[in-house]
Amino acid sequence: MNVLLIGSGGREHALAWKLHQSSLLTSLHIAPGNAGMAGLGTLADLDPMDFAAVERYVKRNDIHQVVVGPEAPLVAGLADYLLDSDKIDVQVVGPRAAGAQLEGSKEFAKQFMKRHNIPTARYGSFTGEQLDAAIAFLDEFEAPYVLKADGLAAGKGVIITSSREEAEATLKDMLSGTSFGDAGRRVVIEEFLDGIEVSLFCVTDGHHFKMLPSAKDYKRVGEGDTGPNTGGMGAISPVPFVSPEFQEKAMNQIVIPTIKGLEKDGIPYCGFVFFGLIKVGGDPFVIEYNCRLGDPETEVILPRVQSDLLHVFDSLCTGMLTEVDVVIEERAASTVILASGGYPGAYEKGMEIEGLDALNGIDGMVFHAGTKEVRRKVLSNGGRVLALTGFGLDLESALKNSYQLAARVNFDGAFCRNDIGADVMESI
Ligand code: AMP
Ligand code: GLY
Repeated sequence: MNVLLIGSGGREHALAWKLHQSSLLTSLHIAPGNAGMAGLGTLADLDPMDFAAVERYVKRNDIHQVVVGPEAPLVAGLADYLLDSDKIDVQVVGPRAAGAQLEGSKEFAKQFMKRHNIPTARYGSFTGEQLDAAIAFLDEFEAPYVLKADGLAAGKGVIITSSREEAEATLKDMLSGTSFGDAGRRVVIEEFLDGIEVSLFCVTDGHHFKMLPSAKDYKRVGEGDTGPNTGGMGAISPVPFVSPEFQEKAMNQIVIPTIKGLEKDGIPYCGFVFFGLIKVGGDPFVIEYNCRLGDPETEVILPRVQSDLLHVFDSLCTGMLTEVDVVIEERAASTVILASGGYPGAYEKGMEIEGLDALNGIDGMVFHAGTKEVRRKVLSNGGRVLALTGFGLDLESALKNSYQLAARVNFDGAFCRNDIGADVMESI
Protein backbone atom coordinates (compact mmCIF):
# COMPACT_ATOMS: atom_id res chain seq x y z
CA MET A 1 0.00 0.00 0.00
CA ASN A 2 1.06 3.58 -0.61
CA VAL A 3 0.40 5.65 2.50
CA LEU A 4 0.34 9.42 3.01
CA LEU A 5 0.88 10.49 6.61
CA ILE A 6 -0.13 14.06 7.51
CA GLY A 7 1.81 15.97 10.17
CA SER A 8 5.27 17.03 11.27
CA GLY A 9 5.75 16.28 14.98
CA GLY A 10 7.01 13.54 17.26
CA ARG A 11 3.65 11.79 17.02
CA GLU A 12 4.03 11.56 13.25
CA HIS A 13 7.66 10.41 13.52
CA ALA A 14 6.48 7.56 15.76
CA LEU A 15 3.63 6.75 13.34
CA ALA A 16 6.04 6.83 10.37
CA TRP A 17 8.54 4.60 12.20
CA LYS A 18 5.83 2.06 12.99
CA LEU A 19 4.22 2.16 9.52
CA HIS A 20 7.66 1.76 7.95
CA GLN A 21 7.96 -1.65 9.66
CA SER A 22 4.78 -2.93 8.01
CA SER A 23 4.94 -5.79 5.55
CA LEU A 24 1.97 -4.21 3.73
CA LEU A 25 3.77 -0.93 3.04
CA THR A 26 4.92 -0.16 -0.51
CA SER A 27 5.71 3.52 -0.09
CA LEU A 28 5.35 6.08 2.68
CA HIS A 29 4.84 9.78 2.01
CA ILE A 30 4.88 12.29 4.83
CA ALA A 31 3.46 15.80 4.55
CA PRO A 32 5.29 17.86 5.59
CA GLY A 33 7.32 15.64 8.00
CA ASN A 34 10.60 16.64 9.63
CA ALA A 35 14.32 15.76 9.54
CA GLY A 36 13.85 12.58 11.59
CA MET A 37 11.43 11.09 9.09
CA ALA A 38 13.52 11.66 5.98
CA GLY A 39 14.87 8.09 5.99
CA LEU A 40 11.41 6.56 6.39
CA GLY A 41 9.65 7.95 3.34
CA THR A 42 9.26 10.78 0.87
CA LEU A 43 8.78 14.17 2.50
CA ALA A 44 6.08 16.07 0.61
CA ASP A 45 6.00 19.83 0.74
CA LEU A 46 2.24 20.02 1.21
CA ASP A 47 0.01 22.17 3.40
CA PRO A 48 -2.47 19.74 5.04
CA MET A 49 -5.06 22.54 5.23
CA ASP A 50 -4.98 22.87 1.43
CA PHE A 51 -7.38 19.98 0.82
CA ALA A 52 -7.29 20.25 -2.98
CA ALA A 53 -3.49 19.97 -2.91
CA VAL A 54 -3.74 16.86 -0.71
CA GLU A 55 -6.28 15.38 -3.15
CA ARG A 56 -3.95 16.06 -6.11
CA TYR A 57 -1.04 14.49 -4.24
CA VAL A 58 -3.12 11.38 -3.48
CA LYS A 59 -4.08 11.04 -7.14
CA ARG A 60 -0.61 11.67 -8.53
CA ASN A 61 1.10 9.22 -6.17
CA ASP A 62 -1.55 6.51 -6.22
CA ILE A 63 -2.03 6.76 -2.44
CA HIS A 64 -4.28 4.09 -0.92
CA GLN A 65 -4.51 5.43 2.60
CA VAL A 66 -4.18 8.84 4.28
CA VAL A 67 -3.34 8.82 8.00
CA VAL A 68 -4.04 12.16 9.64
CA GLY A 69 -1.89 12.99 12.70
CA PRO A 70 -3.11 16.39 13.97
CA GLU A 71 -6.62 17.60 14.80
CA ALA A 72 -6.85 20.85 12.82
CA PRO A 73 -7.30 19.29 9.33
CA LEU A 74 -9.83 16.78 10.74
CA VAL A 75 -11.92 19.45 12.46
CA ALA A 76 -11.78 21.47 9.23
CA GLY A 77 -13.08 18.50 7.20
CA LEU A 78 -10.07 16.92 5.46
CA ALA A 79 -11.50 13.38 5.83
CA ASP A 80 -14.85 14.47 4.32
CA TYR A 81 -13.10 16.18 1.42
CA LEU A 82 -10.99 13.12 0.55
CA LEU A 83 -13.69 10.49 1.14
CA ASP A 84 -16.32 12.40 -0.85
CA SER A 85 -14.04 13.24 -3.78
CA ASP A 86 -14.98 11.66 -7.09
CA LYS A 87 -11.40 12.05 -8.31
CA ILE A 88 -9.82 9.59 -5.87
CA ASP A 89 -10.66 6.42 -3.95
CA VAL A 90 -8.74 6.50 -0.71
CA GLN A 91 -8.96 5.22 2.87
CA VAL A 92 -8.70 7.83 5.61
CA VAL A 93 -7.57 7.12 9.17
CA GLY A 94 -9.11 10.05 11.04
CA PRO A 95 -12.77 11.00 11.51
CA ARG A 96 -14.97 13.23 9.39
CA ALA A 97 -15.65 16.73 10.75
CA ALA A 98 -18.85 15.53 12.47
CA GLY A 99 -16.90 13.10 14.67
CA ALA A 100 -13.93 15.45 15.08
CA GLN A 101 -16.35 17.78 16.91
CA LEU A 102 -15.62 15.65 19.97
CA GLU A 103 -12.39 17.64 20.09
CA GLY A 104 -13.34 20.67 17.99
CA SER A 105 -16.11 21.86 20.31
CA LYS A 106 -16.03 21.48 24.09
CA GLU A 107 -19.75 22.16 24.22
CA PHE A 108 -20.48 19.45 21.65
CA ALA A 109 -18.39 17.01 23.71
CA LYS A 110 -20.15 17.96 26.95
CA GLN A 111 -23.63 17.57 25.38
CA PHE A 112 -22.58 14.24 23.90
CA MET A 113 -21.45 13.00 27.33
CA LYS A 114 -24.62 14.25 28.99
CA ARG A 115 -26.79 12.54 26.36
CA HIS A 116 -25.00 9.23 26.82
CA ASN A 117 -24.54 9.35 30.60
CA ILE A 118 -20.76 9.44 30.41
CA PRO A 119 -19.20 10.71 33.66
CA THR A 120 -17.75 14.21 33.32
CA ALA A 121 -17.63 17.44 35.33
CA ARG A 122 -20.91 19.42 35.72
CA TYR A 123 -20.92 22.40 33.38
CA GLY A 124 -22.64 25.38 31.80
CA SER A 125 -22.01 26.88 28.38
CA PHE A 126 -22.23 30.57 27.48
CA THR A 127 -21.83 32.88 24.48
CA GLY A 128 -20.77 36.52 24.24
CA GLU A 129 -24.32 37.80 24.84
CA GLN A 130 -24.55 35.84 28.10
CA LEU A 131 -21.70 37.37 30.10
CA ASP A 132 -23.90 38.21 33.11
CA ALA A 133 -25.35 34.71 33.20
CA ALA A 134 -21.86 33.25 32.88
CA ILE A 135 -20.61 35.32 35.81
CA ALA A 136 -23.64 34.32 37.89
CA PHE A 137 -23.02 30.65 37.03
CA LEU A 138 -19.65 30.82 38.81
CA ASP A 139 -21.74 30.79 42.02
CA GLU A 140 -22.61 27.16 41.30
CA PHE A 141 -19.05 26.17 42.11
CA GLU A 142 -16.37 26.76 44.68
CA ALA A 143 -12.90 27.88 43.54
CA PRO A 144 -10.87 26.86 41.61
CA TYR A 145 -12.87 27.81 38.52
CA VAL A 146 -12.36 25.96 35.23
CA LEU A 147 -13.02 28.02 32.08
CA LYS A 148 -12.69 26.48 28.64
CA ALA A 149 -12.73 28.13 25.23
CA ASP A 150 -15.17 26.11 23.12
CA GLY A 151 -13.05 25.81 19.97
CA LEU A 152 -9.56 24.58 19.14
CA ALA A 153 -6.89 26.59 20.96
CA ALA A 154 -3.77 24.43 20.53
CA GLY A 155 -4.03 23.03 24.07
CA LYS A 156 -4.05 26.51 25.62
CA GLY A 157 -7.78 27.17 25.84
CA VAL A 158 -8.30 26.08 29.45
CA ILE A 159 -7.88 28.55 32.28
CA ILE A 160 -8.01 27.36 35.88
CA THR A 161 -7.99 30.05 38.54
CA SER A 162 -8.63 30.21 42.26
CA SER A 163 -9.49 33.90 42.13
CA ARG A 164 -13.09 34.83 41.49
CA GLU A 165 -11.95 38.22 40.15
CA GLU A 166 -9.60 36.60 37.69
CA ALA A 167 -12.33 34.15 36.64
CA GLU A 168 -14.67 37.06 35.84
CA ALA A 169 -11.98 39.00 33.97
CA THR A 170 -11.03 35.88 32.01
CA LEU A 171 -14.66 35.27 31.09
CA LYS A 172 -14.92 38.83 29.76
CA ASP A 173 -11.74 38.43 27.70
CA MET A 174 -12.76 35.07 26.32
CA LEU A 175 -16.34 35.94 25.45
CA SER A 176 -15.34 39.18 23.74
CA GLY A 177 -12.89 37.25 21.54
CA THR A 178 -9.87 39.03 23.04
CA SER A 179 -8.04 36.02 24.43
CA PHE A 180 -8.76 33.15 22.04
CA GLY A 181 -10.39 34.80 19.03
CA ASP A 182 -13.45 32.98 17.73
CA ALA A 183 -12.50 29.77 19.60
CA GLY A 184 -13.33 31.55 22.89
CA ARG A 185 -16.57 33.27 21.92
CA ARG A 186 -18.33 30.36 23.55
CA VAL A 187 -17.08 29.28 26.97
CA VAL A 188 -17.70 26.13 28.97
CA ILE A 189 -17.53 26.66 32.74
CA GLU A 190 -17.13 23.45 34.67
CA GLU A 191 -16.69 21.93 38.07
CA PHE A 192 -13.06 21.44 39.11
CA LEU A 193 -12.24 17.76 39.51
CA ASP A 194 -9.44 16.94 41.90
CA GLY A 195 -7.61 13.80 40.88
CA ILE A 196 -4.86 12.26 38.80
CA GLU A 197 -4.94 12.33 35.00
CA VAL A 198 -4.46 9.43 32.61
CA SER A 199 -5.16 8.93 28.92
CA LEU A 200 -6.69 5.96 27.16
CA PHE A 201 -6.69 5.47 23.39
CA CYS A 202 -8.63 3.31 20.98
CA VAL A 203 -8.92 2.81 17.25
CA THR A 204 -12.53 2.55 16.13
CA ASP A 205 -14.60 2.20 12.99
CA GLY A 206 -17.54 3.70 14.85
CA HIS A 207 -18.98 0.29 15.76
CA HIS A 208 -16.10 -1.79 17.06
CA PHE A 209 -12.90 -0.69 18.74
CA LYS A 210 -9.51 -1.95 19.89
CA MET A 211 -7.68 -0.46 22.84
CA LEU A 212 -4.13 0.85 22.61
CA PRO A 213 -1.86 1.18 25.67
CA SER A 214 -2.68 3.77 28.35
CA ALA A 215 -0.34 6.71 28.90
CA LYS A 216 0.28 9.60 31.26
CA ASP A 217 1.41 12.93 29.91
CA TYR A 218 3.30 15.67 31.81
CA LYS A 219 1.74 18.90 30.58
CA ARG A 220 3.33 21.61 32.72
CA VAL A 221 6.70 23.00 31.73
CA GLY A 222 8.22 22.88 35.22
CA GLU A 223 9.25 20.10 37.55
CA GLY A 224 6.66 19.11 40.13
CA ASP A 225 3.94 20.07 37.61
CA THR A 226 4.52 23.80 37.90
CA GLY A 227 4.52 26.66 35.40
CA PRO A 228 2.49 27.09 32.23
CA ASN A 229 0.90 24.29 30.20
CA THR A 230 2.75 22.94 27.17
CA GLY A 231 1.85 20.42 24.49
CA GLY A 232 3.42 17.85 26.82
CA MET A 233 6.94 17.54 28.27
CA GLY A 234 7.07 13.76 28.58
CA ALA A 235 4.98 10.64 28.92
CA ILE A 236 5.00 7.13 30.32
CA SER A 237 3.25 3.90 29.42
CA PRO A 238 1.86 1.80 31.01
CA VAL A 239 0.43 3.86 33.87
CA PRO A 240 0.83 2.01 37.18
CA PHE A 241 -2.35 3.35 38.78
CA VAL A 242 -4.50 2.07 35.90
CA SER A 243 -5.49 -1.06 37.82
CA PRO A 244 -7.65 -3.76 36.24
CA GLU A 245 -10.60 -2.38 38.27
CA PHE A 246 -10.08 1.17 37.03
CA GLN A 247 -9.61 -0.05 33.45
CA GLU A 248 -12.86 -1.99 33.66
CA LYS A 249 -14.76 1.02 35.01
CA ALA A 250 -13.31 3.19 32.26
CA MET A 251 -14.32 0.65 29.62
CA ASN A 252 -17.86 0.19 30.89
CA GLN A 253 -18.64 3.77 31.85
CA ILE A 254 -16.68 5.68 29.21
CA VAL A 255 -15.16 3.83 26.23
CA ILE A 256 -18.10 1.58 25.33
CA PRO A 257 -20.76 4.30 25.89
CA THR A 258 -18.71 6.67 23.71
CA ILE A 259 -18.56 4.29 20.75
CA LYS A 260 -22.22 3.29 21.21
CA GLY A 261 -23.08 7.00 21.54
CA LEU A 262 -21.46 7.80 18.20
CA GLU A 263 -23.40 4.92 16.67
CA LYS A 264 -26.72 6.04 18.23
CA ASP A 265 -26.18 9.62 17.12
CA GLY A 266 -25.45 8.44 13.56
CA ILE A 267 -21.97 9.96 13.61
CA PRO A 268 -19.59 7.96 11.41
CA TYR A 269 -16.13 7.58 12.93
CA CYS A 270 -13.01 5.95 11.60
CA GLY A 271 -9.85 6.73 13.49
CA PHE A 272 -8.59 7.27 17.01
CA VAL A 273 -10.41 8.39 20.12
CA PHE A 274 -8.18 9.82 22.83
CA PHE A 275 -9.90 9.78 26.23
CA GLY A 276 -8.36 12.35 28.56
CA LEU A 277 -9.50 11.03 31.94
CA ILE A 278 -9.15 12.03 35.55
CA LYS A 279 -9.32 9.49 38.35
CA VAL A 280 -11.26 10.90 41.28
CA GLY A 281 -11.46 8.61 44.30
CA GLY A 282 -11.08 5.52 42.12
CA ASP A 283 -13.64 6.59 39.50
CA PRO A 284 -12.93 7.80 35.96
CA PHE A 285 -14.32 11.08 34.55
CA VAL A 286 -13.76 12.50 31.08
CA ILE A 287 -11.78 15.76 31.04
CA GLU A 288 -11.63 15.91 27.27
CA TYR A 289 -11.88 13.91 24.08
CA ASN A 290 -9.43 14.24 21.22
CA CYS A 291 -10.01 12.90 17.72
CA ARG A 292 -6.38 11.85 17.20
CA LEU A 293 -3.45 10.37 19.06
CA GLY A 294 -1.60 12.42 21.67
CA ASP A 295 1.81 13.96 21.37
CA PRO A 296 4.06 12.89 23.19
CA GLU A 297 1.83 9.94 24.22
CA THR A 298 2.20 8.32 20.77
CA GLU A 299 5.96 8.14 21.30
CA VAL A 300 5.37 5.74 24.22
CA ILE A 301 2.27 3.86 23.09
CA LEU A 302 3.18 2.85 19.54
CA PRO A 303 6.52 1.27 20.49
CA ARG A 304 4.50 -1.00 22.81
CA VAL A 305 2.18 -2.15 20.01
CA GLN A 306 3.52 -5.39 18.54
CA SER A 307 0.95 -5.74 15.77
CA ASP A 308 1.49 -4.47 12.23
CA LEU A 309 -0.02 -0.99 12.40
CA LEU A 310 -0.85 -0.75 8.71
CA HIS A 311 -2.67 -4.06 8.93
CA VAL A 312 -4.71 -2.61 11.81
CA PHE A 313 -5.44 0.57 9.80
CA ASP A 314 -6.40 -1.37 6.68
CA SER A 315 -8.77 -3.55 8.73
CA LEU A 316 -10.18 -0.42 10.36
CA CYS A 317 -11.03 1.09 6.98
CA THR A 318 -12.46 -2.10 5.46
CA GLY A 319 -14.82 -3.09 8.28
CA MET A 320 -12.53 -5.91 9.44
CA LEU A 321 -11.37 -4.44 12.75
CA THR A 322 -12.87 -7.32 14.74
CA GLU A 323 -10.64 -9.71 12.79
CA VAL A 324 -7.32 -8.22 13.95
CA ASP A 325 -5.53 -8.43 17.25
CA VAL A 326 -3.81 -5.40 18.66
CA VAL A 327 -1.07 -7.06 20.68
CA ILE A 328 0.57 -4.95 23.37
CA GLU A 329 4.00 -5.66 24.77
CA GLU A 330 4.58 -5.96 28.48
CA ARG A 331 7.68 -3.78 28.40
CA ALA A 332 7.45 -0.16 29.49
CA ALA A 333 8.26 3.03 27.59
CA SER A 334 8.94 6.59 28.66
CA THR A 335 9.64 9.73 26.69
CA VAL A 336 11.34 12.95 27.75
CA ILE A 337 10.94 16.04 25.59
CA LEU A 338 14.01 18.12 24.84
CA ALA A 339 12.63 21.62 24.31
CA SER A 340 13.96 24.99 23.11
CA GLY A 341 14.93 27.55 25.77
CA GLY A 342 11.91 29.79 26.47
CA TYR A 343 9.24 27.26 25.41
CA PRO A 344 6.22 27.46 25.81
CA GLY A 345 6.88 31.20 25.49
CA ALA A 346 9.06 32.72 22.76
CA TYR A 347 12.08 30.66 21.69
CA GLU A 348 14.69 30.60 18.95
CA LYS A 349 14.89 28.07 16.14
CA GLY A 350 17.81 26.94 14.00
CA MET A 351 20.11 25.61 16.76
CA GLU A 352 22.36 22.79 15.61
CA ILE A 353 21.58 19.52 17.40
CA GLU A 354 24.60 17.56 18.53
CA GLY A 355 24.99 13.96 19.64
CA LEU A 356 22.34 12.36 17.43
CA ASP A 357 24.96 10.05 15.93
CA ALA A 358 26.16 8.76 19.33
CA LEU A 359 23.07 7.01 20.61
CA ASN A 360 23.94 3.38 19.94
CA GLY A 361 23.77 0.99 22.84
CA ILE A 362 20.81 2.68 24.53
CA ASP A 363 17.52 0.78 24.40
CA GLY A 364 15.43 3.61 23.02
CA MET A 365 14.46 5.76 20.06
CA VAL A 366 14.83 9.44 19.34
CA PHE A 367 11.69 10.78 17.71
CA HIS A 368 12.03 14.20 16.12
CA ALA A 369 9.31 16.64 17.15
CA GLY A 370 10.51 19.94 15.67
CA THR A 371 13.61 19.61 13.49
CA LYS A 372 14.72 20.32 9.96
CA GLU A 373 17.77 19.37 7.96
CA VAL A 374 19.82 22.09 6.34
CA ARG A 375 23.04 21.20 4.53
CA ARG A 376 23.34 17.84 6.34
CA LYS A 377 22.92 19.47 9.73
CA VAL A 378 19.89 18.79 11.90
CA LEU A 379 18.55 22.04 13.35
CA SER A 380 15.89 22.76 15.96
CA ASN A 381 12.70 23.96 14.32
CA GLY A 382 10.07 24.21 17.07
CA GLY A 383 9.40 24.48 20.79
CA ARG A 384 9.40 20.78 21.37
CA VAL A 385 12.43 19.49 19.45
CA LEU A 386 13.10 15.84 20.30
CA ALA A 387 11.16 13.10 22.11
CA LEU A 388 13.70 10.83 23.82
CA THR A 389 11.97 7.49 24.21
CA GLY A 390 13.45 4.78 26.41
CA PHE A 391 12.33 1.18 26.69
CA GLY A 392 12.75 -1.24 29.57
CA LEU A 393 11.29 -4.18 31.41
CA ASP A 394 9.81 -1.69 33.85
CA LEU A 395 9.29 2.07 33.99
CA GLU A 396 12.39 2.64 36.06
CA SER A 397 14.68 1.18 33.41
CA ALA A 398 12.76 2.86 30.58
CA LEU A 399 13.22 6.24 32.30
CA LYS A 400 16.90 5.54 32.83
CA ASN A 401 17.27 5.03 29.09
CA SER A 402 15.34 8.23 28.28
CA TYR A 403 17.62 10.23 30.55
CA GLN A 404 20.74 8.57 29.11
CA LEU A 405 19.61 9.80 25.72
CA ALA A 406 19.03 13.25 27.23
CA ALA A 407 22.62 13.27 28.53
CA ARG A 408 24.03 12.68 25.04
CA VAL A 409 21.95 14.98 22.82
CA ASN A 410 22.16 18.72 23.08
CA PHE A 411 21.63 22.08 21.39
CA ASP A 412 21.95 25.67 22.59
CA GLY A 413 19.28 26.44 25.16
CA ALA A 414 17.92 22.87 25.30
CA PHE A 415 16.09 21.81 28.46
CA CYS A 416 13.97 18.94 29.70
CA ARG A 417 12.01 18.09 32.82
CA ASN A 418 14.08 15.85 35.06
CA ASP A 419 11.11 14.38 36.91
CA ILE A 420 9.12 12.60 34.19
CA GLY A 421 7.54 9.52 35.79
CA ALA A 422 8.82 10.43 39.28
CA ASP A 423 5.32 10.84 40.76
CA VAL A 424 4.17 7.38 39.76
CA MET A 425 7.49 5.74 40.68
CA GLU A 426 6.93 6.87 44.25
CA SER A 427 3.60 5.06 44.37
CA ILE A 428 4.82 1.73 42.93
P1 AMP B 1 -8.28 20.09 28.37
O1 AMP B 1 -7.73 20.94 27.26
O2 AMP B 1 -9.76 20.06 28.43
O3 AMP B 1 -7.63 18.74 28.42
O4 AMP B 1 -7.76 20.75 29.72
C1 AMP B 1 -6.39 21.00 29.92
C2 AMP B 1 -6.02 20.63 31.33
O5 AMP B 1 -6.78 21.37 32.26
C3 AMP B 1 -6.31 19.18 31.67
O6 AMP B 1 -5.28 18.34 31.28
C4 AMP B 1 -6.46 19.24 33.17
O7 AMP B 1 -5.19 19.26 33.79
C5 AMP B 1 -7.09 20.58 33.39
N1 AMP B 1 -8.55 20.45 33.52
C6 AMP B 1 -9.47 20.55 32.54
N2 AMP B 1 -10.71 20.38 33.01
C7 AMP B 1 -10.60 20.20 34.35
C8 AMP B 1 -11.55 19.98 35.41
N3 AMP B 1 -12.85 19.96 35.18
N4 AMP B 1 -11.05 19.81 36.64
C9 AMP B 1 -9.73 19.85 36.88
N5 AMP B 1 -8.80 20.06 35.94
C10 AMP B 1 -9.22 20.23 34.67
N1 GLY C 1 -0.24 15.61 24.95
C1 GLY C 1 -1.56 16.06 24.90
C2 GLY C 1 -2.19 16.08 23.59
O1 GLY C 1 -1.67 15.57 22.62
O2 GLY C 1 -3.29 16.62 23.48
